[in-house]
Amino acid sequence: MKSVAITKNKDSANPNELGIHWVGHVDWTIRDFHGYQTHRGSTYNAYLIVDDKVALIDAVKAGYGDDMFEKISEHVDPSKIDYIISNHTEPDHSGEIARVLELAPQAEVVASEKGRQGLTRYYPGDWKFRTVKTGDTLTLGKTTLKFICTPMLHWPDSMFTYLPDSNILFSMDAFGQHYATSARYDDDVEFPELMFEAKTYYANILMHLGSITAKTLKQAGELDIDMICPSHGVIWRKHIPDIIQAYQDWSIFKPKPKVLVIYDSMWHSTEIMAETIAQAAAEENVEVKLLRLGVNDLTILVTEVLDAAALAIGTPTLNNTMMPAMGAFLTYLQGLKPRNKSAFVFGSHGWSGGGVEAAAEILKNLGLELVGENIRCQYLPDEETLKTCRAHAKKLAGIAKTAGV
Ligand code: FEO
Repeated sequence: MKSVAITKNKDSANPNELGIHWVGHVDWTIRDFHGYQTHRGSTYNAYLIVDDKVALIDAVKAGYGDDMFEKISEHVDPSKIDYIISNHTEPDHSGEIARVLELAPQAEVVASEKGRQGLTRYYPGDWKFRTVKTGDTLTLGKTTLKFICTPMLHWPDSMFTYLPDSNILFSMDAFGQHYATSARYDDDVEFPELMFEAKTYYANILMHLGSITAKTLKQAGELDIDMICPSHGVIWRKHIPDIIQAYQDWSIFKPKPKVLVIYDSMWHSTEIMAETIAQAAAEENVEVKLLRLGVNDLTILVTEVLDAAALAIGTPTLNNTMMPAMGAFLTYLQGLKPRNKSAFVFGSHGWSGGGVEAAAEILKNLGLELVGENIRCQYLPDEETLKTCRAHAKKLAGIAKTAGV
């Protein structure tokens, strides 16, 4: 795959007008990004700006440098690079900086102070750093780069690079998608598919950073933006209002009238309860999803959780606590810190119990609104237990129906 000129319009008469090129790598085969199931692969985006001075914005993941250098060489000898802008230290964006510096030892690495510290830890060497803070600028010729530090979005080092003359925002992880495609722009892919991947990315990477995301959106709102170039996935130039609005909604956990029944089961008892709850909630005209652990991976589950108003969590008891799959799910959820949801827990046990209580304790500590008593039954749910399941489900659905209204 060749480099792609960055253009604001699909049918630009002069694709090289801006002198900016995508020189990243499309990773079609990755399916596990440290636990994140990347069903559609990913991309590691790098951008080359050729002006009087030459700047490379981010490098690719280690191992994909040859591909990047091939693309850079379409426009300039890589040894001519003057600046490497490191918007984010994480190795999927910095992994090949050392190789760039082997070819262009004169190049300065431009990063936030935290970025400098992180890069120095990852890649010991005698790098020439230029540390920048919010508002600092760097002129390449006719192109000026302006830096905006965005700590914790996604790491302490993170920053945006903004081009005030062309209104282009290089947003590193923010607005990204793990989405391998031959298309480079949002107007060249299916919109629902794109938004699904953007939402999955937000849920799994940024969900717990909602307040920081909201603050960063406020900063971004003060900029004129014609194009957003993230470090993963496609470039936004048509659907910028859609993705900004989506980030605003996600950052405050704006709920949809949606009930998720997430469960595991050993001998179908908890499953019978789950199905009963799902059926009763669906009768209240809210969206209901019945999601068994093990069948649905954690990546998709937390994406569903992001905008769900209500959760019914079901686990049998195994060895006096919840099932291991539920433990893994709730541990992941604890780190992502969902907000603005109501929930209850249900499940079957044999003799002493403990699974429902263990799961409920985690939901309580997460600060979710617990609805009614948790539902427990011994061995197989009887009609009385199922009646309680139906009543709880209808109450949860009622709350979900009015959430976000
Ligand atoms: Fe794609 Fe936080 O790195």
